[in-house]
Amino acid sequence: MPRRQPFGAAVVLLGLIVGVGSASAAPDPIGAKRCGACHEREYADWKASPHAQALARLSTPKQRDPVCRSCHTTAPTSADPDLAGVQCESCHGLGSLYAPEYVMKDEKLRKLLGLEKVTAATCQGCHDGDTPSTRKFDFEAWVKLVNHGASGEGEGS
Ligand code: HEC
Ligand code: HEC
Ligand code: HEC
Ligand code: HEC
Repeated sequence: MPRRQPFGAAVVLLGLIVGVGSASAAPDPIGAKRCGACHEREYADWKASPHAQALARLSTPKQRDPVCRSCHTTAPTSADPDLAGVQCESCHGLGSLYAPEYVMKDEKLRKLLGLEKVTAATCQGCHDGDTPSTRKFDFEAWVKLVNHGASGEGEGS
């Protein structure tokens, strides 16, 4: 009797697609300065915000602590000073693939190449139950402090 393994074959095929897909499509962080070359207003707003100082404010040993780095900087395993702090890409998604101008101008393409919608889940990766805070995280209220003044009350102003 011939051995039939339809699921096995499907799993191998899926593995190939996923493997190839992630190898070619994994974006890298490019840093706030490069985003800011085109988005000056958002850059200035962010630069004046606590997120920009999130790593710099920690003591030198804590700046090197992988646990602290996991929430206080955008690329925890990178020592590049241009990636320090909670940058654009912590909220909008890693940008190496969507940053080229022709991609940025195409609503569908930029989404496909990693520009993410900012939701409560975006923040909760860092602002979770274990975060040292005297105030409970409230997405509706706090997002108005980080949306670059879209609500007229940007945190940097
Ligand atoms: C070469 C210039 C350029 C660079 C670099 C660039 N952008 Fe953009 N970005 C644009 C343009 C142009 C648009 C489209 C604006 C529009 O559609 O009105 C855009 C759109 C966006 C939007 C969506 C706005 C919306 O209406 O939804 C976000 C968010 C954004 N960029 C964030 C970033 C971030 C974060 C970076 C860095 C990782 C970055 N951009 C780098 C030019 C750039
Ligand atoms: C799970 C994510 C997370 C981890 C891990 C984390 N932090 Fe934080 N930390 C935050 C967030 C989010 C805030 C802002 C809290 C707020 O304002 O409600 C914060 C705030 C702080 C503040 C106050 C900031 C200020 O300027 O007053 C200090 C200090 C701090 N963290 C130090 C540390 C140190 C040291 C470590 C490592 C031992 C660490 N954090 C690990 C998420 C984290
Ligand atoms: C803490 C999260 C956070 C960070 C950090 C952040 N943004 Fe945003 N950004 C938002 C939110 C929220 C909005 C409102 C629209 C939305 O929900 O996507 C927004 C909107 C935008 C827009 C759309 C146009 C506008 O001004 O409303 C652009 C462009 C943008 N951000 C670029 C940047 C750049 C460039 C940086 C870094 C210099 C940055 N953002 C850092 C959360 C963030
Ligand atoms: C990569 C982790 C990370 C992400 C993602 C993140 N934050 Fe933060 N946030 C922090 C840290 C760390 C601080 C403390 C910075 C400091 O004070 O040194 C902070 C501080 C803040 C503050 C300032 C609190 C104060 O004391 O004034 C606000 C407001 C805030 N975050 C809102 C948001 C919102 C809204 C989102 C999602 C759209 C978000 N954050 C996403 C890590 C993060």
